[in-house]
Order: sequence, then C-alpha cells, then structure tokens
Amino acid sequence: MAKYLVQGGGPLSGEVQISGAKNAVLPLMAASLLAEEKCQITDVPRLLDVDVMCEILDSLGGKIERTAPGELVLDMSAIDKPVAEYELASRMRASFLVMGPLLARKGYAKVYMPGGCTIGARPVDLHLKGFEALGAEIIAKDDYVEATAGPDGLKGASVYLDFPSVGATENIMMAAVLAHGTTYIENAAEEPEIVDLANFLNKMGASIKGAGTDLVKIEGVKTLHGAHHTVIPDRIETGTFMLAAAITRGEILIHNIVPDHVRPIAAKLRECGVTVELADEGLYVNGGDRPLVATDIKTLPYPGFPTDIQSPFMSFLTTVNGASRVIETVFENRFMHVAELNRMGANIRIEGHRAFVQGGKKLRGSRVMATDLRAGAALVLAGLAAEGTTEVSEIYHIERGYEDFVGKFRALGANILRVED
Ligand code: UD1
Repeated sequence: MAKYLVQGGGPLSGEVQISGAKNAVLPLMAASLLAEEKCQITDVPRLLDVDVMCEILDSLGGKIERTAPGELVLDMSAIDKPVAEYELASRMRASFLVMGPLLARKGYAKVYMPGGCTIGARPVDLHLKGFEALGAEIIAKDDYVEATAGPDGLKGASVYLDFPSVGATENIMMAAVLAHGTTYIENAAEEPEIVDLANFLNKMGASIKGAGTDLVKIEGVKTLHGAHHTVIPDRIETGTFMLAAAITRGEILIHNIVPDHVRPIAAKLRECGVTVELADEGLYVNGGDRPLVATDIKTLPYPGFPTDIQSPFMSFLTTVNGASRVIETVFENRFMHVAELNRMGANIRIEGHRAFVQGGKKLRGSRVMATDLRAGAALVLAGLAAEGTTEVSEIYHIERGYEDFVGKFRALGANILRVED
C-alpha cells in the first residue's frame, strides 16, 4: 500500500494550476449517456474516480477514448446494458449518477448501491423520490436499486427536495431532460457543478432553466445530440491550495479559478487575517504577512461554506492561536480527521456535529490515516505545518479526487514523497 511521507517545514511559495473539477466531470460523463452521438469533454482531470466512471460507462456498452491529455470522447450511442454492476458501482458514490440518464434513455436502470467516502449514511432516497415523481416504478433492495419507466416513458412533474442534495438535483435533472412535459425541481441544490451540468445538457439540446437557483425548470425534449464541453475549475482543489498557503504561512498564486466559486473560503480566510486577493493572473493567497486570529465556520449547501473544505480548514485552525468552532451541518459523520489531528498534537473536542478547536500549539509529525478524500488532504496540510515527519496512509482516497497531488505540492516547495510500503 502506498503512503505519503510529509516533512513539515517552511512556507510554501510559488504558482499552481487548478485542474478540472472532479465533482463536475463525473456528472458530465454520466450525462453523455443521454446523447445519441459522441460527446467531447476537455479539462478532464486524471483521477481514479474518472477511471472508475470510464469503466462503468464502458460496461454499459459505451466507448470512451482518451484523444489527448485531459480530453475524453464518449460515444454512448449504442449502450445496451443499463445495469451498473456491484464491482464497479460500489467503488464510488457518484456511480449512482448513471441511474437518471439510463432511466431516461432506456426506460430501465439497475444500479448497485454506491460506495465512496464513508461520511455518514449518504442515502439516495431523494434521488428515488424524484424518479418516482417522474412516474418510474422503483424497487430498492439492500444492495441495488431498479427503476422502470412506464410504457410511454417518464413524465414531467414537480419534485420538492427535503434537502438540497447535489447528487439528487443532478440525477433528477438528467432523468427529466427526456421526459414528456415540464419538470420543476424545488429546493434544488445550487452548486456550480449543477450549473456546469445544465450548461452541458443544454448544449446537447436540453431545455433547462434556473440551474444555480433553488428552482430548476426542465422542459422535456425528444432526443439529445453530441456536444463539446470544458469542465469548470475545481473549487475544492482551489480551496485546498488556499489553505496550503495559509497553514504554512506561505504565498501561492493560484491559476484557473472562478473567484465566485471560492467566495466563502476567501471570506473566512480573510477573517483570520490571511491575504486573499484577485490578481490578473489568478488568486493570490498569503498567510504570512499578518498575525492570524481564530474564527468559526459552519458548513452549508452552496453558496455557504463547503463541507469539502471543512477538514482542511480545521487543520489550519489548529495552527492559529485561540478558540474556534467548526459546525458541520451537511453530513452527520464528517469529523473522522479529528482523531488523527489530535494524534498530531491538536486540541479538538467533538460534541455532536460541533468541533471545538483550541489552536496554536505546534503540531508534531505522526502516523495518521486518510479516512476519506478531504480528510486525507487535511492531514497532508497538517503534516506540512508540523514538526517532523507525518506518514499518511490510505492515500488512495486522496488520489481518487486530486490530480497530481504530490507533484503540485512539491512544485511549491513542499517536502512530500509518495512511497510504497
Ligand atoms: C456531492 C459531492 C461531495 C460533497 C457533497 C456536498 C460529488 C460527486 N460529490 O456529494 O463532494 O461533499 O455533494 O456538497 O459531487 N442526502 C439524503 N438523501 C439523498 C441524497 C443526499 O439524505 O437522497 C443527504 C446526504 O446524506 C448528506 C446531504 O444530503 O447528508 C448532502 O448530500 P448530497 O448533496 O447529495 O451530496 P453528494 O451529491 O453525495
């Protein structure tokens, strides 16, 4: 098993190029299932999760070609097996996103239950509520879900999401694009990745309005054609490098960013005294030019503070003098990094969905485990600020979602090595 050896040291400095967003590219790839022609996606990051999605699409009867670095051509015209088998589907939660498009295009889909990061129960009830509202018959077993449309296909309907789930909004949107009539998704998630998906679907001939607001209107069309799309930059990777500058008291210029997408992260870092400025060439972040103060964060659906940056931000807060509170409202079990940070000498206490951080003590290098993707990134950041060497195991979690993680950090001066046990 591979692991990272992180040597704590001085401030990071330099420039970094952000990759296409993991959370955008996976739904875009699933959406290609709806097209009767080839689709082309560019700025595709090299990630394990993208490889898994390629394998799933291939297993459904699709053809995927990597035509250039960062470019995929997906030909789903001849998909013939609307079943995502356990071995593949269970490797990643986003595999469930093939259900909506398969149901729309083939009238039937069977998907084995998703795996992915173990952060809470992560049910799919809201996805299913949407498919049912569109007229599908659902059979949900412990390890798979089967959905069947009526003889005339899916029918437009109003769906109210009890929580603005990102995945449910995407899946229902993809199911509704080929339905008869109009669908409204109320209390929809507003994340930038949803807007990116709607833009791609509209290029394919869909009629979607309101993506990025809490009310999405989808008028069904008969068929979708091929389209070309470039993936938006990864706002979570951007946030991770913003925090790398902050936690090492370094300065980093971050290229390929959408400032609006990282507004909550920038705002909270500024509250702590970190300089975050928009420059002509990107986002300039400097954690070393002023004394820093503690702050509280509370995760919320977009445009609130992203849950995916909660753990990296907590690592940073452990290095700032003073007390801070971290409140997690999106997932019920997203504090697994706390035990690992405490092992490194942090002082964090959990009460329910709140974590109380008493910051300012120097972290010390330790053996820690990446319990999920973002927790893994958080531990590497902590390791960069610690005294001595931190050994991070279970790094496949990190490599599922960050392109060239080690290479990008090393280019900024970080002393991080990937070694095989
Ligand atoms: C997506 C992101 C993930 C991010 C999360 C929240 C992808 C591939 N992953 O995950 O990185 O952390 O959004 O920003 O885009 N829920 C239900 N029932 C459902 C669906 C969700 O109760 O049917 C709950 C979940 O358990 C969770 C909350 O809703 O507590 C948010 O989940 P959701 O927005 O669906 O996250 P994902 O789409 O899985």
